[in-house]
Amino acid sequence: MSPTKTIGVLTSGGDCAGLNAVIRAVVTRAILGYGWRVLGLHQGLRGLMRRPVQFTPLDLQTATPAMARSGGTILGTTNRGDPFAFPMPDGSLKDRSEEVIEGYRMLGLDGLIGIGGDGSMAICRHLTQQGNIPFVGVPKTIDNDVGATENSVGYHTAVMVATEAVDRLQPTAASHDRVMILEVMGRDCGHIALAAGIAGGADVILIPEIPYDIDVVAAHITKARHVGHSFAVVVVAEAVRDKTGERSQLKHALGGTTYGGIGYVLGDAITAKTGAETRVTVLGHVQRGGQPTWDDRLTGSAFGVYAVDLIAEGKFDRLVAWQNRRVVDVPLTAAFEPTHAICADDVLVHTARGLSICLGDE
Ligand code: F6P
Repeated sequence: MSPTKTIGVLTSGGDCAGLNAVIRAVVTRAILGYGWRVLGLHQGLRGLMRRPVQFTPLDLQTATPAMARSGGTILGTTNRGDPFAFPMPDGSLKDRSEEVIEGYRMLGLDGLIGIGGDGSMAICRHLTQQGNIPFVGVPKTIDNDVGATENSVGYHTAVMVATEAVDRLQPTAASHDRVMILEVMGRDCGHIALAAGIAGGADVILIPEIPYDIDVVAAHITKARHVGHSFAVVVVAEAVRDKTGERSQLKHALGGTTYGGIGYVLGDAITAKTGAETRVTVLGHVQRGGQPTWDDRLTGSAFGVYAVDLIAEGKFDRLVAWQNRRVVDVPLTAAFEPTHAICADDVLVHTARGLSICLGDE
C-alpha cells in the first residue's frame, strides 16, 4: 500500500438521517488524522459499476459541521440493484460483481468504507471477499435491525419523528373520540413502533415479533375508552401480520414491493369489533428524511472516525458497532447473522407491559 492512501466511502440501501455525519467524520479523520485522500462513490456500488466510474473527491470544504446536520446522503444511494443479481432492461438478472470490483481497481483505492444496513453488508461482504478488497462497514438503518450493534445511524431520528406523530395524533383523537392508528416503518422488526409507542404514550403497540389477536386489541380499546379516556392511539409496525397471517404489501409501478397497508386493515377490524371511529396515518418516508437528531450525529461521527482508524490499523472485514456505551468492531458477518429483532425479554417489552400498554397478545 502507498503511504498516502486513497480510500472510498459509499452509502448503500435506503437513506436515513445521519449518513452525512458519518461521511463528514470519515473525510475529516482520513485527511486530518492520516493525510489520506477520500473519494465519495455515487449511489452505493452502482457508482463503481458505471463507466466512467462515478465518484466525487471529498475534501474539508465539503466535510463541514453543516454537512453533518443535513438529511439524506450527499453521495446518493440505492436499495435496488444487487450486483450479484442486477436487474437488466430485458427483465433478466445478471451477475455484474466483477464490473464493480474492476471499478474499484480503476480508482486505485486502498480501502473502502460502506455505510449500509444488513442487506447491504451481506452484499458488500460477498463482493469484497470475492475481490479481496479491504472493507469496513458502518451500520445505518431506521429499522435498527443490524446485528451486533445497539444503535444504527438513523434509528433515533426515525423514533423521534414517530414519537412526534403520536404526540400530534393524541389531541385530535381526544377531540373526536376516535381511535387513531399510526403505521410506522421498520421492516421485519418493531423497534421504531415499540420505542415511539412507549415514548408517545400509545394505548396499543403491535410489532412483528409478537403475533396479535384482534379480540385482545379490541377488548383493550373498549376498556380504555370506558374506564379511562374516550379515545385511543394504536402504533403498528408495517410488517405486522394481518388476521390471515399475511403481511400487507404494496406493489410499485416500477417493480418491487414494500410493506405497507396494515394500518387500514387494522382500522377496519377495530371499527368492526368496537364500533369506534378510526383514522389511519401512514408515516412513511418522513421517518427517513430531515435533520438527524443529536444522537444520530454523534453515533455517525463516532462510527466514521472509528472506521477510518480500523483501516489505518489494517483491520478489515469488520463492522463498527455500538455496545455497552463504547464503539467496538465485530466481524462483518455479525451485521446480518442474526438480525437484531425484539426478543420476549426485551426491556422495552417489559416496560410497555408495565405501563399497561397492549402488545396484542394478552
Ligand atoms: O429499510 C428501511 C425502510 O425504510 C423500511 O423501513 C421500509 O420497509 C423500506 O425501507 C422502504 O423502502 P423504499 O425506500 O424502497 O420505499
